[in-house]
Amino acid sequence: MQGSGMKQFISVTDVANINALVKQALVYKANPLADRQLGENKRIGLLFLNPSLRTRLSTQIAARNLGMEAVVFNIDKEGWALEFEEGAIMSGNTVEHVKDAGPVLGLYFDILCIRTFPSLKNREDDYSEMFINQFIKYAGVPVVSLESATLHPLQSLTDLVTIQETINNNAKLQTPNAKPKIVLTWAPHIKPLPQCVANSFAQWINAWGEAEFVITHPHEYELAEQFTKGATITHDQDAALQGADFVYVKNWSTYTDYGKMYENDPEWMLTEEKLKATRNAKVMHCLPVRRNVELSDEVLDSTHSLVTQQAGNRVWAAQAVLSDILKTKK
Ligand code: CP
Repeated sequence: MQGSGMKQFISVTDVANINALVKQALVYKANPLADRQLGENKRIGLLFLNPSLRTRLSTQIAARNLGMEAVVFNIDKEGWALEFEEGAIMSGNTVEHVKDAGPVLGLYFDILCIRTFPSLKNREDDYSEMFINQFIKYAGVPVVSLESATLHPLQSLTDLVTIQETINNNAKLQTPNAKPKIVLTWAPHIKPLPQCVANSFAQWINAWGEAEFVITHPHEYELAEQFTKGATITHDQDAALQGADFVYVKNWSTYTDYGKMYENDPEWMLTEEKLKATRNAKVMHCLPVRRNVELSDEVLDSTHSLVTQQAGNRVWAAQAVLSDILKTKK
């Protein structure tokens, strides 16, 4: 029983073989307790600096399926205010440096998982991923991202598991040499949101390389090229949707003029009418979703929607990642 060598899970670049990880997630879906002794006498810490429903619960369930003890800590509400800057003079509101807290957490846990959102104020700071990188530097145990300032890899692995599962169950999507068409479309929202889910989805679909991948968004909502490179990008949503097999719906704020929301054009909301241009596409969203703002009730409540299945698959994706890290550590 060997892992792939995975020592952390922060980005798709930590994954040796994407298809093997997706396959392992589907193996766990079929047999959740297949490796129930793998994590015996091991503890996993889940630190949240931001709210969560799916990530928080699915990762705990995944850990328990592997026999691990999971401890959740809402560090933003229950912990000391942490300082992350090297050399900081801590005469302000922060009480404890990550340089001191990180090694302690590393003694308590075999795997440390962290959720940290971006500030959306300073692009350079957010894209430096200082918070999660400081935990990696000081904890001394494998770190798993539960969503960081720029990426959400557990979500993206789940998304790929859901796409692969749908392909496996649909003969029409298994045409030899015909890649499925996957469209990532911007959606309206009431406030500026991080770019993490969209960045990460683009990064994973590009790295997977087994799809025709199109990203569509209004002018000035370009994502970081480091993640989108390889995708076709268009501002014409109708053209993008033509012949799509999967449509991933997500809002994000601006990247260039960082963290802004210029417009909230309701025309970008995905509707049943727009889906008529697709190949009876399946619709995905990471949740939580603003109904009738990002996605219409008619789409979310239709057979097009994969969102509940997708959220359910969060357990198997997390389990595949944790088991790989545990097997690598052995
Ligand atoms: N998709 C996702 O990460 O959901 P939560 O914020 O509820 O964890």
